[in-house]
Amino acid sequence: MTVQELKADFQTAYGKAAEAIYFSPGRVNLIGEHTDYNGGFVFPCALSFGTYLLLAHNDDKVMRFKSLNQPEIVTLELSQLTTPLSNSWVNYPLGCIAQFVKRGVKIDKGFDILIWGNVPNGAGLSSSAALEVVTAYAFNDQLGTNYDRTELAKIGQLSEHEFALVNCGIMDQFASAQGKKDHAIFLNCDTLQFELVPIKLNGIKVVISNTHSPHKLDSGAYNQRVAECKLAVEQINKVRPIKYLAELTEDEFKTIEHAITDPVAHKRARHVVGEVQRTTDAVKALKSGDIAAFGKLMNASHVSLRDDYEVTGPQLDAMAEEAWKIDGVIGSRMTGGGFGGCTVSLVKNEAIDTFIQQVGSNYEARTGIKPDFYIAEIGDGARRVE
Ligand code: GLA
Repeated sequence: MTVQELKADFQTAYGKAAEAIYFSPGRVNLIGEHTDYNGGFVFPCALSFGTYLLLAHNDDKVMRFKSLNQPEIVTLELSQLTTPLSNSWVNYPLGCIAQFVKRGVKIDKGFDILIWGNVPNGAGLSSSAALEVVTAYAFNDQLGTNYDRTELAKIGQLSEHEFALVNCGIMDQFASAQGKKDHAIFLNCDTLQFELVPIKLNGIKVVISNTHSPHKLDSGAYNQRVAECKLAVEQINKVRPIKYLAELTEDEFKTIEHAITDPVAHKRARHVVGEVQRTTDAVKALKSGDIAAFGKLMNASHVSLRDDYEVTGPQLDAMAEEAWKIDGVIGSRMTGGGFGGCTVSLVKNEAIDTFIQQVGSNYEARTGIKPDFYIAEIGDGARRVE
């Protein structure tokens, strides 16, 4: 779908021209999984695919929402902007608009909105964050609120908490808002300080493998992981005051892990503490040109997410295991929330065809599902297109 086609669709839906067009990307996380809501490090990059939002104001004092994937237009009065709808995709953009209202911004004019995205849904590549951040970016521009990109990411995250009822961390919205072409974002999720690290890899590409696993990202299981980490912090607080698991080094963890009496919370905490260390080590390795070390840390991340965090499942495990067998694969792991979705792999250029062919057929033989492969293009964050 081109921008010209989207403009024509807007014209068809609303009988007038769009006044502005915005875009915000999905993301892939290279390492640092389930660390964001634990105050740890993540290392995601924005992708070249994402979500477009076209809008024009109206004089009817209503918000109209239309997605090209949905038949109907949803119309809301301006007095209804802070109330979630039951079971509607509109909650993602609506939840962002609600944050403006809650911050005291007066919205006294209506907008007609059209949305289209090309992030595969349910693939763990943050189609929802792309939709949230494009909405936050568009309304920031239209309402003249001048929030910075970090604030827009927080607006997206709050929308997810309050309207989608997922207690997510900040990673996805942050990557969508702050992404930079050919860079990954080394983000401290406690302080929100970040560094853009160039990711032009010599002779290597970032390959995303979509398991098309029928297990959708399960918000219940996700929120349960968040709660288990909170329990681990509470139990540790009996022997040492901490706010986040990520404050502990692996050595410190060993001296106090006995305080976590709940065995599940203990495993979850062990993953988080190890993953934070792996993320720091991986960024160091990348900066010093040691891509092999980076790859080993990716593999170790997958194993920890499988055994201690228990968010992989048979399809993600099959995809990673088949990738590990291929010569020319530097590293491979699940990416995003888990329970289905995608893996991310670093693959040498000359091995990519073999990778797609062999991982594809072996994965299909093991799971009965035909996967998809994308060579990631690392793009810029949210922006106005026209
Ligand atoms: C989902 C959440 C993120 C993060 C990842 C796991 O994508 O939205 O905040 O927790 O899972 O790293």
